Amino acid sequence: MRTTLKPLEWTGRGLRIIDQTRLPGRTVVVELRRYQDVIDAIKRLRVRGAPVIGIAAAYGVALGAAGIKAKTRRAFDAELAGIFDEFAASRPTAVDLFNAIARLKNAASQAPLGRVKEKLVAEAKKLHAEQVAATVRLSAAGAALLHDGDAVLTHCNAGPLAASGEGTALGVVRVAASQGKHIAAFATETRPLLQGARLTTCELMAAGVPVTLVTDSMAGYLMSQGKVNAVIVGADRVAANGDAANKIGTYSLAVLARAHRIPFYVAAPRSTFDPAIGSGKEIPIEERSPEEVTHIGRKRVAPRGVKVYNPAFDVTPARYITALITDMGVIPAPSRAKIKKALGR
Ligand code: MRU
Repeated sequence: MRTTLKPLEWTGRGLRIIDQTRLPGRTVVVELRRYQDVIDAIKRLRVRGAPVIGIAAAYGVALGAAGIKAKTRRAFDAELAGIFDEFAASRPTAVDLFNAIARLKNAASQAPLGRVKEKLVAEAKKLHAEQVAATVRLSAAGAALLHDGDAVLTHCNAGPLAASGEGTALGVVRVAASQGKHIAAFATETRPLLQGARLTTCELMAAGVPVTLVTDSMAGYLMSQGKVNAVIVGADRVAANGDAANKIGTYSLAVLARAHRIPFYVAAPRSTFDPAIGSGKEIPIEERSPEEVTHIGRKRVAPRGVKVYNPAFDVTPARYITALITDMGVIPAPSRAKIKKALGR
């Protein structure tokens, strides 16, 4: 079985999503009919993963615009601007969200008032289709880096649920496996929200890739035992110099991979690049609620009143990244110049 669950789908009247917070226990499909519900789904990680956040926001803006009753351009634009602002405040780190917003703003500004609503739906559909196509190109480019017999470690979830299409990091693994290479995977559980344990394991099992679940703290031991040949992760934002933000814990894996001379790959489509940001130091890192750390699921595992720090992402400096795997091709030893050239193509 190749393709697994589709994370979202435009129905014409709303956005149908798989509630990723309920996986793997239950596959709950809900149709979001109000743009506020799309924002809530993004905030609560019912839809998640950088590219899918961007796609969801694009459809969400179209949904919000459809509900605007204003009759003058000025009043319409003011309401639409408010909707854009609400989406922009949903999650700060994945730049795909802001790239989608910029794209839809541009589309709206170019359409006459009577056609803005349909133009936004069309632009969201176009963005969605482009993202799917990007995952196919990215996965094919990255698959060439994996060898028969490799064991790959991945963190968080960068499969179809997070990116649509083939996925990004998991797309690379899935396509390499579909070429007949024997690829095995280790999935880190990815505390606090367990995207690795809950989602990556399912997607790899569905793709027929042998996957072993480990806790986050086991990665160094696995590498020291020679059990890992490559690390592949996704990204939420890649700065102009190649520094990459991804799920908290990614930086530790990159340092470990370097110490063990294991290649460390970051897979990300063009929509995840932020050339306006000079380095990873400028990437805004989302902090989430303490309950995500004091609890596992609904069960409290830490004493009441304990101080908690819960950054959802960290930044891996470009010097630890063996190559960026993108829909524009593979960028080995990423640098400012190489990224600029790739984005310019
Ligand atoms: O908080 P999440 O689950 O949205 O974080 C997701 C990740 O960190 C992914 O690795 C990243 O968005 C890339 S998805 C192709």
